[in-house]
Amino acid sequence: MKEMLTPLQIMENMVNKLQQSYPKHDKKAEGVIQFYLKHENENINCFIQSDFEKLSFYKGVAQNPTVTVKSTFYNWLNLAGGTLNPVFGVMTGKLKFKGKTSFFEVLPKKSFTEDLNIPKDPVSRFEKKPSKYWVKPKKIVVLSASPRGENGYTDFYLNPFIEGMKKQSDVELIHLKKISIKPCTGCFSCWMVHPGECIYHKTDDFNILAEKMYAADLIVYAFPIYADGMPGILKNYFDRSVSRAYPYMIDGIYKVRHPRRYKHENQSMVIFSICGFFEMKNFDPVRSYFKALAHNRHTPVVAEIYRTTAVGMYGNPFVYKQLNEIIGALSKAGEEIIEYGKIKRKTNKIICQEFSRSKRDLNQINEWWNEKKGSKDINY
Ligand SMILES: Cc1cc2nc3c(=O)[nH]c(=O)nc-3n(C[C@H](O)[C@H](O)[C@H](O)COP(=O)(O)O)c2cc1C
Repeated sequence: MKEMLTPLQIMENMVNKLQQSYPKHDKKAEGVIQFYLKHENENINCFIQSDFEKLSFYKGVAQNPTVTVKSTFYNWLNLAGGTLNPVFGVMTGKLKFKGKTSFFEVLPKKSFTEDLNIPKDPVSRFEKKPSKYWVKPKKIVVLSASPRGENGYTDFYLNPFIEGMKKQSDVELIHLKKISIKPCTGCFSCWMVHPGECIYHKTDDFNILAEKMYAADLIVYAFPIYADGMPGILKNYFDRSVSRAYPYMIDGIYKVRHPRRYKHENQSMVIFSICGFFEMKNFDPVRSYFKALAHNRHTPVVAEIYRTTAVGMYGNPFVYKQLNEIIGALSKAGEEIIEYGKIKRKTNKIICQEFSRSKRDLNQINEWWNEKKGSKDINY
């Protein structure tokens, strides 16, 4: 279990970090900086000893220090971090120095001006306004992530959309449930040990799938809502995709993100989701998730297709007409997305129409669950 570091451990870490720059430091000298720091009614006495080779950290009190610092632990950290001005610190009594204060120059100051060689991956104009810079996608990959695969309602609603897209482009449909992807273990080996490669690189199929997705100009993520989010198999895929980014942090459109290891300019995504409940609100969590994901992947979302009451509509004589309209609109949406890089508002309004539901509807549904209980008929 991770435990909170003590002030002494923090001091030691700080000295170890400074030591990295010390060999090249031009103000190397022999001497001792003694600290008398107070923290939560405890005295933290420690010192840094320097010679012409290294900085060493010790607990306790040194004989004849070159300079001493008396303050609270936090005030010292603020001074070290540059948020407390030393003159102001002395004037306000927050810091007390004794001895040769110029000796602090023995501690190297970290400068971040050096070129860290971070891969460049700036915000592109396509990412900001995909429909303005739209080029008809040649290759489309649809990742259907229902754990029920072809037998699910996800595919039922997805198929007309695919048919619409197929009129103009190549579409490959992949069922995620058929692909073996182990969950991320959080080891960061893909960033630190074998950059770009997960520990499961050779033992599962993540990379095969990731390469296919990378080659696509447009990716459709299709999935049912599970427990107010996406099914675990899809989340596993996204977690593992972290291996395809660099660990570095760069500025994005509205927040910090990672540069990509593999860039596919003008790649975009469509979110296609269905759920069992009635209200569009049920998609709010995945809507927010994909907004963040799209930003982190530098891949804009060009359309969101959400269908509530997906199970309840199927085979329901009282909404047969609406279902037919929805299926037609889904096919139209498939054509529109390829042509314009967006789905027309009118088309999406038909697809996403909500049904007002009465108490009687809920009673009917609950009756159905009661009837099916124990029937072992899972092919609903
Ligand atoms: C484990 C599980 C959790 C579900 N959670 C939700 C939920 O939170 N909200 C919702 O509206 N529907 C929920 N549903 C219903 C599914 O979204 C719905 O049955 C959908 O049609 C399943 O798609 P599929 O047939 O392609 O698997 C859940 C279904 C399962 C199996």
